[in-house]
Amino acid sequence: MDVNDLADHANNKENACIKVPKHVAIIMDGNGRWAQVRGKRRTFGHKAGVEAVRASVKYARESGIQSLTLFAFSSENWKRPQEEVGVLMDLFSFVLKSEVKRLHKNDIRFKVIGDLSPFSASLQKKIKQAEELTQNNQALTVNIAANYGGRWDIVNAAKRLVEEVQEAKVKPSDIDESLFDSFVSTADLPDLDLLIRTGGDHRISNFLLWQCAYAEFYFTDTLWPDFNEDAFRAAVEDFSSRQRRFGLTGEQIMTSESELQAC
Ligand code: IPE
Ligand code: IPE
Ligand code: MG
Repeated sequence: MDVNDLADHANNKENACIKVPKHVAIIMDGNGRWAQVRGKRRTFGHKAGVEAVRASVKYARESGIQSLTLFAFSSENWKRPQEEVGVLMDLFSFVLKSEVKRLHKNDIRFKVIGDLSPFSASLQKKIKQAEELTQNNQALTVNIAANYGGRWDIVNAAKRLVEEVQEAKVKPSDIDESLFDSFVSTADLPDLDLLIRTGGDHRISNFLLWQCAYAEFYFTDTLWPDFNEDAFRAAVEDFSSRQRRFGLTGEQIMTSESELQAC
């Protein structure tokens, strides 16, 4: 058993009675307010938020979550003051450089979703290299949403689908939810189970609109830089205690769960 196997073993034990979500997404909100209450500039909060990203990836890796999608920069965030946007871009570049080796060592696949065309050529190149280096890793997928918008994702999928129809690769009569799903940016990831938003607001802010169809929502007042492994565990435990009915009755769900009862 190597270190990774030992960690998996310990956590499988710890998680024995917990339903671990396969795919968790997080709206990492509250960096600016975290800095402002400390009398600092907003960008200080973005830098502090990097530690919370590390803690979340560590918790996801150890708890058996398969995919973690993190909202790092929305298509609307370009409208912020130029200095703040600049700091966020530099931070993204810096973190890519400093973290990718560690992700790779921990068998983590790294991916970025969003419209990358406005990013500098060097940042696009770094993203591509990181994705290629880690593409066969299995333990966890860390998926960063950068210049991402849920409506963009749906429109982009529609455009690509139309192209396939024009090239006669797809017949309009073949188009159904499952085919459409294969064109959105999360096509290779499990369905979204849990959406967490830190920072106290109760909204989606144009995040994974298509993917949220049957996700559970978890809102916390904790500001992103304070979101640590315990806070993530609390969200997963809350998720685990919920009954997801997917349109069925509670009794139907209880019958099928008792057939699978593990604890
Ligand atoms: C989230 O924190 C990070 C990004 C949007 C990049 P905010 O910067 O939105 O922090 P608040 O919501 O203003 O406190
Ligand atoms: C959502 O947070 C985007 C990210 C966390 C990257 P915002 O702070 O931009 O969202 P609003 O403006 O409060 O809706
Ligand atoms: Mg915010």
